[in-house]
Amino acid sequence: METKRLIVDNDVNNISTYTQAVEKLLAGEVVAFPTETVYGLGAIATNEAAVAKIFEAKGRPADNPLIVHVGEAQDILEYVSEIPEKADTCIQAFWPGPLTLILTAKPNVFATNVSAGLSTVGVRMPDHPVALELLRKLRQPIAAPSANRSGKPSPTTALHVEKDLTGRIPLILDGGATGIGLESTVVDFTVEPPVILRPGGITADMLREVIGEVIEPASTKVGDETTPRAPGMKYAHYAPDAPVYLIQPNQELIEQAIKTIHTSRKKVALLASDDFKTTDADWFWSLGNQQNPQDFAHHLYAHLRACDETTADIILVTVPDKAGVGAAIFNRLEKAADGNWWSS
Ligand code: TXA
Ligand code: MG
Repeated sequence: METKRLIVDNDVNNISTYTQAVEKLLAGEVVAFPTETVYGLGAIATNEAAVAKIFEAKGRPADNPLIVHVGEAQDILEYVSEIPEKADTCIQAFWPGPLTLILTAKPNVFATNVSAGLSTVGVRMPDHPVALELLRKLRQPIAAPSANRSGKPSPTTALHVEKDLTGRIPLILDGGATGIGLESTVVDFTVEPPVILRPGGITADMLREVIGEVIEPASTKVGDETTPRAPGMKYAHYAPDAPVYLIQPNQELIEQAIKTIHTSRKKVALLASDDFKTTDADWFWSLGNQQNPQDFAHHLYAHLRACDETTADIILVTVPDKAGVGAAIFNRLEKAADGNWWSS
């Protein structure tokens, strides 16, 4: 299959590009498009065969449900059987934006493979002009996971999508780099108090400010069965080819680690804040200012992907503070590293 990449301006002026995307979706095809978090791979959420193509293109396990994207908040009235008050408050406060709400689905509205057989559905309204324009022109809900091959870091540029999915999907809408760089916060509102299943750009503190108590699982460790989580979180994620080790942002520790790695004749890529630029790593990617987790989030996936273009044997990544968006970054890093910390 030929994969077309069409550049579409953020100021939403490219009518023929949207027409092509809408035609593909109506014909039961999948289309990749930018959101404010990461690129999504979309299909019409009521079309079972089209949704099946998402799973196939990504190599995604069938028991991992998809998020349904809507162009207007009120659209969800047609799709969910109840909107608890706290969910409604969050919709008012954070939509459009990087918050996915898990709600009870009305039966037989979406294709069954969207929710992987669950009675709930994840819904969100993205805050990106291209995604919103596509949804409004299509006038149908779009089921879309991140547009990467399963297991790889989510795509934050159209080129990342192209790298993973060329030959597997017909069309990519290229709206440039995404803003936030990490996937949406997923919150389960079918339980009381609501539970954060996946941390993201809308932080626990932001949620507490508007709805009071929310449960934030202490551990997101792979294999920790006491942790409630999104079905997808049990799978390996965000992983470059070489093994990733987490390390505290400490100059001495990092220098020692690099020395040890070099002694065993291995090459090391370091992803760290600007402060560590001067170390002897074979490759260095800056995650920005240690004090600014937004920078870190914005660059993380692109840099993890860039490691695959090197011959690094080991990837070291410094961890951010867990405050604010740091919690989401920490969560993704633990998965990318499969829980491994560097110890000399
Ligand atoms: O920012 C985002 O959320 C991006 C953009 C494209 O919108 N999408 C995204 O989708 O990250 P995906 O499929 O990569 O991650 C969806 C997460 C998975 O961990 C999945 O298990 C969880 O949401 N999820 C979806 N539906 C669910 C449900 N009904 N119950 C519990 N978890 C659910
Ligand atoms: Mg994903």
